[in-house]
Amino acid sequence: MNHTPHRVAGKTAIVTGGRGDLGSATAALLAHHGAKVASLDVAGVPAAVSHESIKEYDVDVTNEDSVAEAIHRVSDDLGAPDILVNAAGIIGPAGASHTASVPDFDLIFNVNVKGVWLMTKHVVPGMIGKGAGSIINFSSIHGITGGRNVPLYHATKGAVRLLSKSDAAAYGAYGIRVNSIHPGSMNTRMSRRSAEQSDIGPEAYYKQLVGSNPLPRQGEPNEIAYGVLYLASDESRFTTGSELVIDGGYTAI
Ligand SMILES: NC(=O)c1ccc[n+]([C@@H]2O[C@H](COP(=O)([O-])OP(=O)(O)OC[C@H]3O[C@@H](n4cnc5c(N)ncnc54)[C@H](O)[C@@H]3O)[C@@H](O)[C@H]2O)c1
Repeated sequence: MNHTPHRVAGKTAIVTGGRGDLGSATAALLAHHGAKVASLDVAGVPAAVSHESIKEYDVDVTNEDSVAEAIHRVSDDLGAPDILVNAAGIIGPAGASHTASVPDFDLIFNVNVKGVWLMTKHVVPGMIGKGAGSIINFSSIHGITGGRNVPLYHATKGAVRLLSKSDAAAYGAYGIRVNSIHPGSMNTRMSRRSAEQSDIGPEAYYKQLVGSNPLPRQGEPNEIAYGVLYLASDESRFTTGSELVIDGGYTAI
């Protein structure tokens, strides 16, 4: 078996949310495996990992001009992207649907859904030009099952799941693959925020979320990054429109 860590050598990859916990682990692993990586995140968020093959860019994924400009700059600097990883996302406030506000709704849909769509919209023409590309969209276990605490988040992640399948259908003919990835509860800031916001308290929240999983623990960011690496690499060349669930078995039971 070949263990040379160059599974995406020579490819240009964009990772949004690249300064977040899962985005930064993904950016670092893609860079380690030979990709030239553009880490895109909102201005002001400090860079998380430094690697000679990771270049930082500011973007607001909810703003089309910002997205277009960032992708233009990345393409000029590193070449048109072969890989797009849409990891930018927010969870929003906890609470039932009737307690949420219109600004809550607009913000979470703008970041989690419009952001994925805008990035796709502006990256795909370059991929069509190359006749190849791999897009990996971050959904969640919350895009597969419902739940009481964050209904709008579930709604956005469900939308990302089906945008991915629909784009897979539309772009397969151009050699572009689109897949979604569905992390379970991860050891990240986002999950700690949800635990703190939960009305049952962090300890009971974690117990409820992972306590009865086949693998009863939270996942670590690298365990997601390896899934992205597979979908980004040519090893997954026959995989499109699929959903890669990495959740310790949460959705299996
Ligand atoms: N952490 C988990 O347990 C978990 C589980 C399932 C799915 N996910 C999903 O994985 C992805 C990454 O999660 P994470 O844990 O790394 O979260 P994180 O909060 O650590 O990182 C998210 C990043 O997105 C960036 N971002 C937010 N709004 C943006 C915008 N408008 N433009 C550009 N960047 C923006 C943030 O600045 C942040 O760096 C998210 O889509 C999240 O919904 C996370």
